[in-house]
Amino acid sequence: MSNKTKQLYIETYGCQMNMADTEVVLSIMDGVGYKLTKEAAKADLIFVNTCSVRDNAELRVKQRVSELKTHKRNNPDVLIGVLGCMAERLRTELIDKNNVVDLVVGPDEYRKLPKMVNDAYAGQRGIAVKLSRVENYDDITPLRTEGISAWLSVTRGCDKFCTFCVVPFTRGRERSRTLKSVVDEVHKLSERGFKEVTLLGQNVNSYHDGEFDFPDLLSAVAKVDRTIRIRYATSHPQDMSDKLIEVMAEHSNICKYVHLPVQSGSNRILKLMNRTYTIEHYLGLLEKIKRAMPDVSFSTDIIAGFPTETDDDHRLTLDVMKQVKYDGAYMFKYSPRENTKAWEMGDDVVEEKKVERLNEIIALQEDISNELNRAAVGQTMEVLVERDSSRSSDDLMGRTDTNKKTLFPREDALVGEYRNVKIERATAHTLFGKLVQNVN
Ligand code: 5AD
Ligand code: SF4
Repeated sequence: MSNKTKQLYIETYGCQMNMADTEVVLSIMDGVGYKLTKEAAKADLIFVNTCSVRDNAELRVKQRVSELKTHKRNNPDVLIGVLGCMAERLRTELIDKNNVVDLVVGPDEYRKLPKMVNDAYAGQRGIAVKLSRVENYDDITPLRTEGISAWLSVTRGCDKFCTFCVVPFTRGRERSRTLKSVVDEVHKLSERGFKEVTLLGQNVNSYHDGEFDFPDLLSAVAKVDRTIRIRYATSHPQDMSDKLIEVMAEHSNICKYVHLPVQSGSNRILKLMNRTYTIEHYLGLLEKIKRAMPDVSFSTDIIAGFPTETDDDHRLTLDVMKQVKYDGAYMFKYSPRENTKAWEMGDDVVEEKKVERLNEIIALQEDISNELNRAAVGQTMEVLVERDSSRSSDDLMGRTDTNKKTLFPREDALVGEYRNVKIERATAHTLFGKLVQNVN
């Protein structure tokens, strides 16, 4: 290889964990001289960090890989690598059969990337898809390209085995980083001027490093720098402990925002999903959280059309949404995944029904979000200014503690500041307002 700096282009699909993994990959590749480029046409090396959670994510990735191959046609020295959750599933299709890509690397094998890239330059295609019980990239500082908000993964993998979910198979067993390594990283982020840290894991609430649990971690992280906002995602209702609720309520810089996937409002379906809670337990939990933090807001994940779901089950999901009034929801059509328990249950809800139910869920959520955001009109809210607005260069975008996107004319405000904004109007997804004097 020449000494000239090499350019790496990377596309990331799927969840925030994948975004965080991409930063680990960037750091590893930076160590061997690869710099990030935003233009695929300029790249020497192209990575696609993939997601398998639903079929449409997989289809999109396959399409993108074939589009990106045109860069190889223009410059035969360009290498293409497929990373992440689809690696195991795609190895046969992409390397063994068709030689479409030069390397396929699963989520626990990123340390091997520099060697595999070198081997690929020498003409040897590589596959590394083993899952690890211990790899957590504890010692690698992710290369973050943005300066206000940082993702920080604290657990990898998942042991919950919800019957619809492929994650336990693609990302392997659950493991936690040590509290000390996480706190050290937050110190470094604080020194660099970061203002928001989101602790990430497939199920962060079951974090345990052998000595400390998730509430211990959250409280240690919150104490590092009171001007840093702390968020976390994702939670499983089973592990949302009283201690965690107490810690959230106790620290003013822990955002009063809880993403708690419900998946379905029907106990029969929840049982088939192996979610291990009843809807009554779930609603009780939300009540408990609200008692401790009256200003809290909730968001959720919902699946429409799980095997055997009836119109009555579906109605129960709508009922829960009406009752809770989530601030936001990620809503999906059930997608059967090989290897999972639900795969064996068949996929008996016909496509039209799934679409109809999903559309109903989306429309209801839109109404609820609209209603909640309209109620915010007239209120003054503190936002962390994150960046320029994508709609107008005269405006800035910030987020409230409860994660609502807020646009306002920039005036003298700067990215990274906490500012008060009086809300003047609202849509289902955005608040609009103007700066007012900070009261404190
Ligand atoms: N089909 C549809 N949605 C799924 N999710 C996970 N697996 C599937 C699947 N097979 C959703 C769940 C989960 C979110 C990350 O993705 O709602 O909480
Ligand atoms: Fe998948 Fe359930 Fe684990 Fe979330 S908690 S990653 S839905 S198995």
